Amino acid sequence: MSSYPQGVDQFDLSHFSFDEPFDAGPGLPSNATVIVVEADSTVAGQLAAQLGSGVVTVRDLDELEHRLGLAPVVAVLGPSCADPAELAMVDLCVRRNPGLGTVLVTSQLSTELLQRALRAGVKDVLTHPVEGTELLAAVNRAAEAFPAMQPAAGEPVETFQEPGELGRVITVFSTKGGSGKSVVATNLAVTLARRSDRPVALVDAHLEFGDVAVMLKLSPRHTVQDAVEAADRLDPALLEAFLTVHQPSGLLVLPAPADPQLAGQIDARELVRVIEVLRSFCETVVIDTPASFNDVVLDVFNVSDDIIIVTGMDIPNIKNVKVGLHTLEQLGVPREKLHLVINRADSKVKLDVGEVEKTLRIRPIAHIPSDVVVPIAVNKGEPVVIGSPRSTVAKAIEGLAAVFTKQSSEAPAARRRFFG
Ligand SMILES: Nc1ncnc2c1ncn2[C@@H]1O[C@H](COP(=O)(O)OP(=O)(O)OP(=O)(O)O)[C@@H](O)[C@H]1O
Ligand SMILES: [Mg+2]
Repeated sequence: MSSYPQGVDQFDLSHFSFDEPFDAGPGLPSNATVIVVEADSTVAGQLAAQLGSGVVTVRDLDELEHRLGLAPVVAVLGPSCADPAELAMVDLCVRRNPGLGTVLVTSQLSTELLQRALRAGVKDVLTHPVEGTELLAAVNRAAEAFPAMQPAAGEPVETFQEPGELGRVITVFSTKGGSGKSVVATNLAVTLARRSDRPVALVDAHLEFGDVAVMLKLSPRHTVQDAVEAADRLDPALLEAFLTVHQPSGLLVLPAPADPQLAGQIDARELVRVIEVLRSFCETVVIDTPASFNDVVLDVFNVSDDIIIVTGMDIPNIKNVKVGLHTLEQLGVPREKLHLVINRADSKVKLDVGEVEKTLRIRPIAHIPSDVVVPIAVNKGEPVVIGSPRSTVAKAIEGLAAVFTKQSSEAPAARRRFFG
């Protein structure tokens, strides 16, 4: 089972509310995303639960500011934000972000605090504990204040894509566990993100035992689970709030749930909806997968422009990939969408790369050598392309990324479904 690195906060989904919003009173505003800002996860959870599903929680104002950008946000500032230093930061944050409305919830209300809050641009101040309907009403009032030209949820928001242009979806797959899918997916995605001035995302669709968060040393607060929970009201702004930024590269990451038991609850069609929204504003969406043809993987193939098959250099690996390629063909996946990546291509085994190519009847687009820098990088949570950029492994990944950046600029792949 995946576990997040030591010193990194464990995932705690308990402070999110997945309950239905309560019946009485107004619902969440339709023209803004709502984010609760509170250091105390219990209080944050209470506030989020009062507001209903789809509300994101962050720990502090830095994290909030990080998530601002595409569309209006109403931030519910919890009691940990009600001191002079924090309110000074709120002031700056509000000035820098015209699409931000704030509501403060404080444990102790004084005239001085009220004055400070209002001067910092806070729209409303409420006393904790606050009635759910009162909180929702304040959030809706704050949302009403946005300029009329701000787009409503569901309408197109400002994105980096041309209207109608969809980002490329690249799925990394193998029929054999441990062949290097996650190493390839993370390094490829990081390389593409560093090369692009447009957003690039990585989704961990290995829902039970995904390693992406560990390999990138992330402490995500949200996962695929949160995004699929909100699938029916998902738009780029809401989805953006569920993504974790890999700071060294700018890659946007949607990790697998920390609890493998949650994997079974994820509906493949909802995950596809998440990918469709991601590709509406990302240049490339890379997807890591488990080593099996499950529902999720089949649906992900269906929306993929390219499928990278990773194989090692041993007989069981080659045999499984051969069977896997045959299955993909039978499923109607066009051959030109399939790309072979040979991992540990120089392993000291008796197999010859040429023989492997001949057996599989598919030309590899990359040969990644076996190198100790890979397990070292995996254990450090720092991709090889960042930690050991001069290694032969990093160079092979750079070459692999070049295949896709070149293809993107020359001839965008046909966007069509393979089956279904
Ligand atoms: N080129 C390489 N050189 C040396 N070691 C490698 C190489 N590629 C992968 N490895 C090692 O193999 C391990 C498995 O790789 P990885 O986790 O990427 O496989 P996977 O296919 O994603 O596995 P799973 O099916 O469990 O998700 C890594 O932890 C890494 O240490
Ligand atoms: Mg993996």
